[in-house]
Amino acid sequence: MIKLPGLIDPHVHVREPGQTHKEDWNTATQAALAGGFTAILAMPNTNPPIFDRDTLNLGLGAAKLKARCDYAQFLGAGPQNASKVAHLAKESAGLKMYLDSTFGELRLDDMTLWQSHFEHFPKNAPIVLHAESRTMAAGILFAQLYDRPVHIAHISLKEEIFLIKKAKERGIKVTCEVAPHHLFLTKSDIPAIVGAGLSPALTGRGEVRPRLTVQADVDALWDNLDVIDCFATDHAPHTLEEKDSDTPPPGFPGLETALPLLLTAVDEGRLTLDDIIKKMHTNPKKIFNLPEQKETWVEVDENATYKLRASNMHSRCGWTPFEGMQVKGRVTRVVLRGKEAYKNGNVLAKKGFGKNLRRWDTNHDNKA
Ligand code: DOR
Ligand code: ZN
Repeated sequence: MIKLPGLIDPHVHVREPGQTHKEDWNTATQAALAGGFTAILAMPNTNPPIFDRDTLNLGLGAAKLKARCDYAQFLGAGPQNASKVAHLAKESAGLKMYLDSTFGELRLDDMTLWQSHFEHFPKNAPIVLHAESRTMAAGILFAQLYDRPVHIAHISLKEEIFLIKKAKERGIKVTCEVAPHHLFLTKSDIPAIVGAGLSPALTGRGEVRPRLTVQADVDALWDNLDVIDCFATDHAPHTLEEKDSDTPPPGFPGLETALPLLLTAVDEGRLTLDDIIKKMHTNPKKIFNLPEQKETWVEVDENATYKLRASNMHSRCGWTPFEGMQVKGRVTRVVLRGKEAYKNGNVLAKKGFGKNLRRWDTNHDNKA
């Protein structure tokens, strides 16, 4: 048995409010615990998006009632809300800025709109950028111009890891995360993800933003693991009906497959356990300024060998792009703040057990 600290996923699409047919605070946090995560940071591209006091209260209200693991909620940067979100910074996981096209309404095309957020948002509160390729280069330039940290979400390209490496060498305050699907899949896996039974024309199950890449990009990520601060799932559940439609939304679920895939890489000698602890606990805790979760750990059977199956998972979306993949390493038990929260396939933490990590009073209270 291996004991890991409680893992932190800084990038989860919980889908509540508004899209609870895909996922909600109950099912997302069940999936999190089953995947070895004791804290998740929730993205704001819900419906409505979380971008002001009322919508933040809406999201946090649902989380308070339903979450089974600990959490914090991101605010979304919109064209008009720079001073509003700056005032809510302390109550949030941070500010998410969508600088490239993606799922949902939050999008900032014009760099003058980026400017007002960089001017207003407190320097000690996290800013996360969805910024791909050249947009990412512009985002890094903003970090330098405003002399403040930025965290780049889900990097996937060779040119991106190259740029982040160079920026870090220059002392620019940039950190980054990689999602397991960009480490373990390429676009040549899309036919297998789509599955044998479906029309090959329906490639929606392979749609994700950033897109799956080619082997040279995947190799560049593996070759530069030291530049990668965090592994983040970008858990983005959509139903199979939606994924197999003519207008498939992009996104893969990932909470319940990340750790088994990464433990398999440890078994293969491509990664160390220390890498997992750093990139899934120590670094996200530091980057997002999260409190210690006392008496919290994850037990793993490192020898369990099995195939990933959506039918064994807790996410409401009911599918995984990793279906049938052979892995080695299984989460057997999770203890969160002294309580057994998950054991052998069963989530034991009750709805409402999860705490908002941005409420100072809860951070000083170690009891359920
Ligand atoms: O594939 C994606 N899905 N990329 C994103 O940036 C958004 C996400 C979602 O919310 O579905
Ligand atoms: Zn995302």
